[in-house]
Amino acid sequence: MLEVKNLSKFYIKKKIWGKDQEVRALDGVSFNVKKGECLGIVGESGCGKSTLAKTLLGIEKETSGVATIEGKSRQQLGDKEWHKKIQMVFQDPYSSLNPRLKAIELIAAPLMINEGLSLKDAKGSALKMLQKVGLRAEMAERYPHMLSGGQRQRIGLARALMLRPSILICDEPVSALDVSIQAQVLNLLMDLQDEFELTLLFISHDLHVIKHIGHSILVMYLGKVAEFGERDTLINLPLHPYTQALLGTIPGLDGKKHPPLQGELPSPLNPPPGCTFHKRCPKAQKSCEINIPPPTIKSGRIVACDLITSQ
Ligand SMILES: Nc1ncnc2c1ncn2[C@@H]1O[C@H](COP(=O)(O)OP(=O)(O)O)[C@@H](O)[C@H]1O
Ligand SMILES: [Mg+2]
Repeated sequence: MLEVKNLSKFYIKKKIWGKDQEVRALDGVSFNVKKGECLGIVGESGCGKSTLAKTLLGIEKETSGVATIEGKSRQQLGDKEWHKKIQMVFQDPYSSLNPRLKAIELIAAPLMINEGLSLKDAKGSALKMLQKVGLRAEMAERYPHMLSGGQRQRIGLARALMLRPSILICDEPVSALDVSIQAQVLNLLMDLQDEFELTLLFISHDLHVIKHIGHSILVMYLGKVAEFGERDTLINLPLHPYTQALLGTIPGLDGKKHPPLQGELPSPLNPPPGCTFHKRCPKAQKSCEINIPPPTIKSGRIVACDLITSQ
């Protein structure tokens, strides 16, 4: 359904004094997702997950690389067709909805913008979608500030589904919500995935959330792929020291407890040489400070670590 090849996004940070700096937010990422499956994307805050989402959506222009949906790139399909196929639910339900619009207008907006429908004509299907996401009809006339975080995120979902996309990206969709509400919204998301036969990209900084929902998992570190493969393969036998660290003190099915993550994510403005994880890696050797490990197929998954020998 979705194929991503060598996708990069470098932001340029303007300097008043001195040279402009390059932020390598996304650096040569490749993966694919099959129709109807859910890919969990995981990594610490700042490792490029939202940049990946925005670049896939087309909100940010990629620096290089290409994404294709059923074999066609955004350039080939055109923006309008692309947006029909791929939509996104944003992380923050408080800032992602226009406060001046009522719920019904927010949900109808994609039909009005993309399909040129009037509000009157879009209202019927918007109202149906509002109810599909578990909101009562009277909520249609409310403004975002009159709604709870969970209700707003339901509107974000309804809005994203209006164009009947085949792919839905959910960027930490429940991170901003109360823990008590999180499960409700996640359950709704799973129901909608079934009903609309969605291919899902689910982003989270928490591997313990991802490990319950994904068919496959993409672990990102500082804009790059650390490890990518089927969920069970990665959870049962994580190979990259970063994946192992994210799984932390909870033992994997291999029975081993992995040491928790030490230190902080380095800046993508000035990434370490060699393997960007080497400074925090409990297994790092001298060669890791020099050689950049290419993503390679080892033991049934893709992993970017030179210390792993194929089994
Ligand atoms: N518009 C931007 N301009 C410059 N740097 C940015 C911009 N957006 C994100 N970044 C930087 O890119 C890196 C990745 O950010 P982001 O994709 O938001 O990470 P994540 O979603 O995993 O937390 C961060 O270092 C962030 O500061
Ligand atoms: Mg983010």
